[in-house]
Amino acid sequence: MKAVVCTVYGPPEVLQLKEVEKPTPKDNEVLIRVRATSVNFGDTMARNFKAITPRKFSMPFLFWLLTRVSLGLRKPKIAILGNEFAGEIEAVGKKAERFKKGDRVFGYRGQSFGAYAEYLCMPENGVLATKPANMTYEEIAVVPYGAIMALNLLRKVNVQPGQRVLVNGASGGIGSAVVQIAKHLGAEVTGVCGTPRLEFVKSLGADKVIDYTKEDFTQNGETYDLIFDILGKSSFSQCQSSLKPNGTLLFASFKMKQLFQMLRTSRTGAKKVVCALAPGSVEDLISVKELVETGKIKSIIDRRYPLAEAAEAHRYVEMGHKKGNVVITVGHDDK
Ligand SMILES: NC(=O)c1ccc[n+]([C@@H]2O[C@H](COP(=O)([O-])OP(=O)(O)OC[C@H]3O[C@@H](n4cnc5c(N)ncnc54)[C@H](OP(=O)(O)O)[C@@H]3O)[C@@H](O)[C@H]2O)c1
Repeated sequence: MKAVVCTVYGPPEVLQLKEVEKPTPKDNEVLIRVRATSVNFGDTMARNFKAITPRKFSMPFLFWLLTRVSLGLRKPKIAILGNEFAGEIEAVGKKAERFKKGDRVFGYRGQSFGAYAEYLCMPENGVLATKPANMTYEEIAVVPYGAIMALNLLRKVNVQPGQRVLVNGASGGIGSAVVQIAKHLGAEVTGVCGTPRLEFVKSLGADKVIDYTKEDFTQNGETYDLIFDILGKSSFSQCQSSLKPNGTLLFASFKMKQLFQMLRTSRTGAKKVVCALAPGSVEDLISVKELVETGKIKSIIDRRYPLAEAAEAHRYVEMGHKKGNVVITVGHDDK
């Protein structure tokens, strides 16, 4: 089968289209004919992880070390990237019962990756579900990563209707899903992003948008029940006066300092810091499917690239110009 392979860390050019062995499902696995996958934060990070020092990494040193070991110290252990996908079941293992040949599915692979290929094997009880009928393979392939993270992290802070939520990093993979899900929960949402993506964030349903290159949201006198900082660009000291008396500052990216602040504020003070991880589960994926089916989450595709142009797709994402998602379409010679 054809796959895009990454055998050394480096710039987008390290991604090479190659002929590799087609995988065979184990007893508990399914074989998926991949139709579409994407380029997100996880793919670009894993491709170039050697260049990411502990300082540049947006999590504590221990997380960096574990990631470095799991991705590979000198060269990538996992040659095929792509952590979200959509496709159809081509074959099932002897003991796999959840899916049958021909089922249309979508899913999330996390740091197992593997979707930049014509075929992919995964355990049937992995983060995999049947595809919502109201989206195409391309549309749904770009949804799982951001939506699973957003849903899982928002559950930790229990957003209520009418609350004021600010999303710092609203145009990214996670932030764009946070905006949509927080609106669905009845919150009044302000999205913070760079100038080129203001319209995109508005189109997701944000009530207000703030351009971080022109305005500092911590200085405008507005207060929020929840400030959700995706990249960890703000700090508790900066955000204190922008939080309502019982407000929460939620970090999806954090260092030890924020973990200590979480510990301290959990015991004292009404304003809280919360640092959280979202591992991603099949239950989350099924909730995402329901949100898609009821029109609460939309899929906005900026560009499409064929598998052979995965390197070009990574280059485009890294230039920082994308407005929405970048899809990699996986064609098959027989269709
Ligand atoms: N907690 C968890 O379980 C978990 C899981 C996965 C990932 N993460 C973390 O999430 C982050 C990646 O999120 P993502 O996939 O959404 O990233 P992404 O798609 O690269 O989006 C990044 C967002 O941050 C914005 N941004 C860039 N510079 C900014 C600044 N100075 N001030 C405010 N916003 C700024 C970008 O805005 P513009 O593009 O408009 O400039 C964009 O909206 C990583 O740090 C990763 O470690 C956490």
